[in-house]
Amino acid sequence: MSRIERLLSRMTLAEKLGQLTMTAAHHATTGPVIAGDSTEAIRSGAIGSLLNLVGADAIHELQRVAVEESRLGIPLLLGFDVLHGHRIQFPIPLGETAVFDPGVWERTAREAAREATADGLALTFAPMLDVSRDPRWGRSAEGPGEDPFVAARLAQAKVRGFQGARLAAADAIAACAKHYCAYGPVTAGRDYASVDISERTLHEVHLPPFEAAVRAGVATIMPAFTDLAGMPMTAHRPLLRGHLRERLGFEGVLISDYNAIAELMRHGIAADLAEAAALALEAGVDIDMMSDAFRRGLPEALRRRRARMADIDAAVRRVLRLKESLGLFADPYRRGARPESAAVVRRRRRLAREVAARAMVLLQNEADVLPLAPGISRIAVMGPLADAPAEMRGPWSAAAGNEGHVSVLQGLREAFPGARIEHAAGVPLREVEEAGIEAAAALCDGAEVIILCVGEAAGMSGEAASRTQLGLPGSQPRLARAVFERARARGIPVITVLFSGRPLIVPELVEHSAALIAAWFPGSEAGSAIADLLTGRRSPEGRTPLSWPRQAGQIPVFFGQRPSGRPAHPDDGFTSKYLDSPNEPQFPFGHGLTYGRFEHADLVVSPARVRPASRLRIRLTVRNTGRRTATDTVFLFARDPLASVARPLLELKGFTKVRLRPGERRRIGITLAAAELRFHGASLEPVWEPGEVEILAGPCADRRRLLSTKVQLLPSASRK
Ligand code: GLC
Repeated sequence: MSRIERLLSRMTLAEKLGQLTMTAAHHATTGPVIAGDSTEAIRSGAIGSLLNLVGADAIHELQRVAVEESRLGIPLLLGFDVLHGHRIQFPIPLGETAVFDPGVWERTAREAAREATADGLALTFAPMLDVSRDPRWGRSAEGPGEDPFVAARLAQAKVRGFQGARLAAADAIAACAKHYCAYGPVTAGRDYASVDISERTLHEVHLPPFEAAVRAGVATIMPAFTDLAGMPMTAHRPLLRGHLRERLGFEGVLISDYNAIAELMRHGIAADLAEAAALALEAGVDIDMMSDAFRRGLPEALRRRRARMADIDAAVRRVLRLKESLGLFADPYRRGARPESAAVVRRRRRLAREVAARAMVLLQNEADVLPLAPGISRIAVMGPLADAPAEMRGPWSAAAGNEGHVSVLQGLREAFPGARIEHAAGVPLREVEEAGIEAAAALCDGAEVIILCVGEAAGMSGEAASRTQLGLPGSQPRLARAVFERARARGIPVITVLFSGRPLIVPELVEHSAALIAAWFPGSEAGSAIADLLTGRRSPEGRTPLSWPRQAGQIPVFFGQRPSGRPAHPDDGFTSKYLDSPNEPQFPFGHGLTYGRFEHADLVVSPARVRPASRLRIRLTVRNTGRRTATDTVFLFARDPLASVARPLLELKGFTKVRLRPGERRRIGITLAAAELRFHGASLEPVWEPGEVEILAGPCADRRRLLSTKVQLLPSASRK
């Protein structure tokens, strides 16, 4: 009999329910209910896992209690929200997506896993895979942007990075694909609000990233708080037990979100805790995070015959199997056994600096004002985010304390040691207070360049941080206006660095900034990375993973829209457009400048006639006509103009990067399995439909800038 079966046969009901219960410690507050000290509950076997505990010693002590003082000695599973670094922060996930490099996505997850496991952790509640096309929703900051293809690639890279080659390794951490699924399209962009989307959008947009995570072997999945068309995901049997377990063969652990099982009562589908627990268990949820519904509700549900002991045993088996696959039975103290060396931390900081610089998106650069000349001698650094190192972490900053992050001001001082650098915040981050504006603007006098650092506070995006106004908060617009007026009167260029967890609607910055950089929240090495870009030590290469709205009224604006029967036409009033704004976003998906100049030509796709088993080879020539070496990102799209259902105007099918010196040209190739040109037919099953499909390639999701050619999809079986 296996260890798990032996344990199961000895466990009391209370011990089984303990293994299905995850309680929060107090290092971070990530939800509405807080638990007390868990030591006694661990000793009695009433808790099997913890979240929000940090520090190898503290974790080691509770693990010792579980292993050496409880009746069955089952080790604890310790989880934490390590989304973009543990102590050293990488850019927020939305920013890191802008790098469009799966190798980077994997490397940062690997580094975060090393750092988190050195602290004794064995589970991270990441990657967050919620496709979002609504920047009002603060959790866009945590996710992969607007496109399911990108989200699926990110899912694979992050699962590989976090979990490594062997889940039992001391530096491997179980990943958690969240929040399953379709959390992004919450009503009106308001967090936790109901979600009501079509089955088609569910299958085309929101399921693919999780299917990719399952294929990559993700160890756990977290259902979303939200209901999908009236059925809360925490109790969504068709999508949990049905789609994940039965259709995809997912054998891992389903961990509810924080208090989500108890919240089935507020959703209005459970009369009491016993009913809520029964619904979640029946749907396939294994671990109850912080609602205590399983411990307090399942005994009653069993008495009512509303729950089955077989389902409880199956859940316990999955949890024990996860602990076994993490090596926790073999060596519960394997993680956190030894502190990391200073050399490892230095290497991690270098990676954080590289990725932060590569994540930033140069939205505009009038007259090539960037990079700055090396001999520049007077710089004015303005704005409430110029010297705000702790804000650089962004939301979900795990175990990263307030110290140890490089501000913009510090980065500039180190990069321009001989320059005279004037600094003033001018206004607070959020509040309306204008007293400091004039003095700050006056400091710009005599400067050769002004660096204006504005945007959101780290806490204005992430969970429970939806916004109806997507402009600069507080008195920042007033400060920006005063700086632009001063600068214009003196002919001084303004470089605006915008920090945010989402695309902001900032027409005044677009209009008056000579250069505009979307820095997202760049993490611990923010200031060094920004200095690397401003000095030209590094060329910007980030591309925006979300269409950047021109007006909030456009939301949701994204490139994968369907054509409609009346696509916009400038000369026809009866077509799909606004009276007061263009349809196009301010910046399209994939937009981002570099210090090079890239041209694309000679797109060729072979073979020109394909069947599902074919492999398409897409080639084009990229040329850098600029004066600086830079890295270009080329996107590959498909457009199926005639099919049994209306297909999106553009579908992303690939992307690649190429680094070219000035004047250099290169023929690059992207391969695409022809089977990727299938789509969900009327029955929502993948179909292959013969006909002509357009293949496009270029710098972003603006059709006017894409090269285009066609392929012929032949009938799948060669007919005699
Ligand atoms: C939060 C979030 C989830 C997180 C969990 C644990 O409410 O929704 O993303 O992993 O609780 O902190």
